[in-house]
Formats: sequence, structure tokens, C-alpha cells
Amino acid sequence: MASILRLENINYSYIDGGYERVILEDLSFEFEEGKFYTVLGPSGSGKTTLLSIISGLDTAKSGEIYFKGKNVVRELGLHKYRRNAISIVFQSYNLISYLTAVENVLLAMSETDNKLPKDRKNVAYNLLRRFGIVKTKADRIVTQLSGGEQQRVAIARALASNVDLIFADEPTGNLDTATEKEIIAIFNELSHEFGKTIIVVTHSDTVSAMSDERVLLRGGKLHTIATVADKGF
Ligand SMILES: Nc1ncnc2c1ncn2[C@@H]1O[C@H](COP(=O)(O)OP(=O)(O)O)[C@@H](O)[C@H]1O
Ligand SMILES: [Mg+2]
Repeated sequence: MASILRLENINYSYIDGGYERVILEDLSFEFEEGKFYTVLGPSGSGKTTLLSIISGLDTAKSGEIYFKGKNVVRELGLHKYRRNAISIVFQSYNLISYLTAVENVLLAMSETDNKLPKDRKNVAYNLLRRFGIVKTKADRIVTQLSGGEQQRVAIARALASNVDLIFADEPTGNLDTATEKEIIAIFNELSHEFGKTIIVVTHSDTVSAMSDERVLLRGGKLHTIATVADKGF
């Protein structure tokens, strides 16, 4: 399968109380197109830091990131990478609290150079409806929706800019188990039916069990967790 995101020798550290604390150390990894990945690792291992770097919100001290073979900094540019290549789903949704659900989705559509359908409002309502947000809910101020509904809006927003790569940081951390399963079913569908690459940081075994590939962040590096299938059983 084709590579969508390649990380090469990523290094990152924080200065903490005068000491350098290494978080990512010569981290190299390749994510393939159309797969649903989960990234696991103990609290404080650097998962959020890694997502910030691979989504271009922060920059590594050294190392390279390639999106579809192009260097993100030198060839694409970080600004274009963020606008046109990726979307992020957060644990706390990060929706614009004074806008309606559909306005949140429309805003995301205005923040990309990607080619989008002309009839944006219709597309936004349809996208929301696909994830269970009917018109009456789409027209509500987002904070009046439940947590699960807000996360569905955030997923619709992530898709609205027509990107191929979606990151999520503990997206079900605030949701009950039943809602968590529904959200993960959406991620599965996005990767398997629509070819999106999904990279989800999670603590949840339920979530990781439903993903195609589980990756562990430990000792500053990513390690593929062997599955039964890999061993040929
Ligand atoms: N801005 C920062 N300055 C200093 N240390 C930080 C900063 N952000 C995170 N850290 C530290 O880096 C480590 C990794 O953090 P984080 O990436 O949030 O881990 P995770 O998401 O896996 O829980 C933690 O020890 C955290 O305290
Ligand atoms: Mg975190």
C-alpha cells in the first residue's frame, strides 16, 4: 500500500526545570494510505506532542516529515499542509461555541484550498446527517448538543475540507462506551469505505481493538504491535 505519511528521525525535547527531557528520539515510521491506526502509550509518553508535530502545530527539533512523498516543510509548506492535507479531531471537540453545528462545518470549508462542491451548505447538512446530526440539530448552537453529538460535528468538520489524513487525540475520552463504539465505527468506515487514513491516539482498548494497526509510543519511538495475523496463525 502507498505511504501517506513518512516520519524520518524525528527528535523532540522539552526543557523542564533546567533539564532537557527527551520525548521523541530518532523516531521513524511510515503510515499507509487508507488504514485506521491507533497510537497507544502511557500517559506522558509524548502522544500529544507527536500529534502536534505530525499535524504541523509544532515543529520537531530535527527530522523530516513527508506527506505523499513530499517534504512537508520544504516542498509543501506547513501552512498549506495544515490547510489542505490534514484535519484534527480533539478530545474536547474544539468547536466554535457561538456558532451552530452547520456553521462550524461551513467554516472549515472556507479554510482550505481544496476543491469542494459548489453547494456547500447542502453538502454540510448532508455530511452532518450522515453522522446522525439531523437538520434541526445542525441548526443549533453546538454547545447545546450532547458530547457524542459534538464529536460527530467535529468529525463532519474534519471531513468537510476534503483531506485524506485525519488525526484524533483521545477523541472518545469524554464519551460513554456505547457512544465510543459509534464514533469508532465512523472512523472504520472512513478508512475502509472512503480511503481516509485515520491516526487516533487513545487509552481505550475498545478503540484499539477495532483499528487496523496498533502502534505503541515507547522510549521516544513508535513500535508496531504484532497482531495474531502477523504471526501467521
Ligand atoms: N509545553 C511543555 N513544556 C514542557 N513539558 C511538556 C510540555 N508539554 C508536554 N510536556 C511534557 O512532555 C511529556 C509528554 O507529554 P504529552 O505529549 O502530553 O504526553 P501524552 O499525550 O502521551 O500523555 C510529559 O511529561 C509532559 O509533562
Ligand atoms: Mg495526550
